[in-house]
Amino acid sequence: MGISDFFYDKMLKMLDAVDNSRFTGEPVERGDAPFTFVVFGDPQVSNYMFARENSFYKGCRDLARSAVIDALVLVGDITENGMKCEFRTVARMLNEISGVVNNFFLIPGNHDVRFRPFHKQLNRFRKFAESVVNGHVPAKGGYYHSHDFPLCRFIMMGTDRSTFEAAYISPAQLDWLDREIGIAESEKKPAFVFNHQTLKGANGLPYTWMGKGKWRGSIGMESNAVKSIFEKHNNVIFVTGHLHFGTSKYNYEDYGSYKCLSVPTVGAGNHGECSYDTQGYVINVYEDKIIAKARRFGDGKYIDKTVDNAEIRIDLQK
Ligand SMILES: [Fe+2]
Repeated sequence: MGISDFFYDKMLKMLDAVDNSRFTGEPVERGDAPFTFVVFGDPQVSNYMFARENSFYKGCRDLARSAVIDALVLVGDITENGMKCEFRTVARMLNEISGVVNNFFLIPGNHDVRFRPFHKQLNRFRKFAESVVNGHVPAKGGYYHSHDFPLCRFIMMGTDRSTFEAAYISPAQLDWLDREIGIAESEKKPAFVFNHQTLKGANGLPYTWMGKGKWRGSIGMESNAVKSIFEKHNNVIFVTGHLHFGTSKYNYEDYGSYKCLSVPTVGAGNHGECSYDTQGYVINVYEDKIIAKARRFGDGKYIDKTVDNAEIRIDLQK
């Protein structure tokens, strides 16, 4: 038995010990929304911090009780260290809910990529995505890819190098990003752009990264280039994780042509006053608007409306 198999065995035993009947509460609402998806930030499932996978599993079990949703997006740091046993544990949890989630989008975060050569880890990540029923698999050359839905376009970004904390967005990916948003715009659809790290200075940075450094917590060196692309277009919703900051005034910012939505962590602990575990957003998309609701997935309930950005309405530009 290899070390990864050893830890996988331990992780499965922990999941098997969980009593699914204890997950109760109000199911996720989609109402009359023609398109509904859920975003979780940073599961960071770990082979030695088992509370992470417990929190993430609670989020998955919450969805198991809900109406069928169009997609679940994990917006990076899916694992703590990009180990095979960690990816396999996540796949096991996602496959339990593949009957109620039509599409899984898996975004790489710095923790998923940082300890191994780029192509080796990309291949590992692709195999992980292939093992998830209804999972979308990035191409062989890079993590970035897109998917078209009738009401919106999903654009998944990802670093082009093995980086420790920020991301590296290559010129080829920047050109591709510009074209992809252009396609959505020409079809009069909102573009949901997913990346693990937000823009420099956005979503309360640097405070929300515990106040350290001018670029820390953001994409890094290519942040301004990404921002310039967003400014050229309209109806861009930039969805990120990484900050582990609970629902607050920082989670959503409207910059006109683009909006920045930072999603709390579903697996690790959240900073800030609203520090519940297992947070994320339920996003309902309509022809003319988007409604995002912050949810305590672990407790089967929405964040109280008195909390800033517990409910966000985005009116789409025509
Ligand atoms: Fe991260």
